Amino acid sequence: MSVFAPNLLDGRVAFITGGGTGIGKEIARTLGRHGAAIAIASRKQDVIDAARDELAGEGITCLGLTFDVRDENAVERVIDGIVAELGGLHIVVNNAAGNFPATLDNISYNGFRTIVDIDLQGTYNVTKAAYEKVLKEQGGVVVNIAAPFEHWGVTYQAHVAAAKTGVISLTRTCAVEWAGRGIRVNAVAPGYIDETEGVDRFNAVGDVNDRGLKGSKQDIANAVLFLCSDAAGFISGECIRVDGAACVDMLKVAPG
Ligand code: COA
Repeated sequence: MSVFAPNLLDGRVAFITGGGTGIGKEIARTLGRHGAAIAIASRKQDVIDAARDELAGEGITCLGLTFDVRDENAVERVIDGIVAELGGLHIVVNNAAGNFPATLDNISYNGFRTIVDIDLQGTYNVTKAAYEKVLKEQGGVVVNIAAPFEHWGVTYQAHVAAAKTGVISLTRTCAVEWAGRGIRVNAVAPGYIDETEGVDRFNAVGDVNDRGLKGSKQDIANAVLFLCSDAAGFISGECIRVDGAACVDMLKVAPG
């Protein structure tokens, strides 16, 4: 049972990149359950087909698309396709991301570039195409899924921390430059979120959650839903950390 009104996003069309699995699929489900028509996309056809069928089975209007956020031409084609199929585009959630845990000693030139290309350039590509084709004239909402690494060095995450901190910077500049066009741009930075591929990969290299703080995919989806809604109508250029205070715990020893 959601604490948000079921018709919160009625009449809106939302595009969630990386919406076939994990946090992205939960965001798609949550926006869909609150009235939005949904477009989800990922690189893998079978993944996106299964997610689309699952969401459609829950009564959500859902379009499944395959493309790579690194491919500028494909991004433009996908935005055109969403507008043609769903009649518009109002919300863009840049969730698609790559990640592998590795120390700097073990990240190749191409490994670093790959993550920056997917996470940062990919976010730019989708945002830019949506802006030029729809949002520039009409307004809308962009939510970028970042990471809570902005102020810290993060072992195993040099590439991801650099890319995601770039995403937060991009969020702010888009928000400033587009404020006069009725476009709000914000970010959500998830902490340790249980049952996700990213956390599974981390657990393979060591215990990254020794205090047992666990968020859920729904926690992230709820923050995105709030930012997409009119309740956040004057919030732009912000990054909301959803990490159970993990990043502001100086001593890393929560009592209890
Ligand atoms: N350790 C070190 N380097 C790695 C690596 C790892 N675990 N996984 C990939 N790389 C390197 C590759 O070796 C390659 O570099 P090289 O050419 O110098 O060898 C580079 O990264 C690109 O790998 P490739 O497999 O060609 O790229 P891809 O476009 O298929 O994407 C990932 C690879 C890792 C980005 C992608 O598979 C991915 O992101 N998967 C996980 C998704 C995920 O966890 N999402 C949650 C985000 S929090």
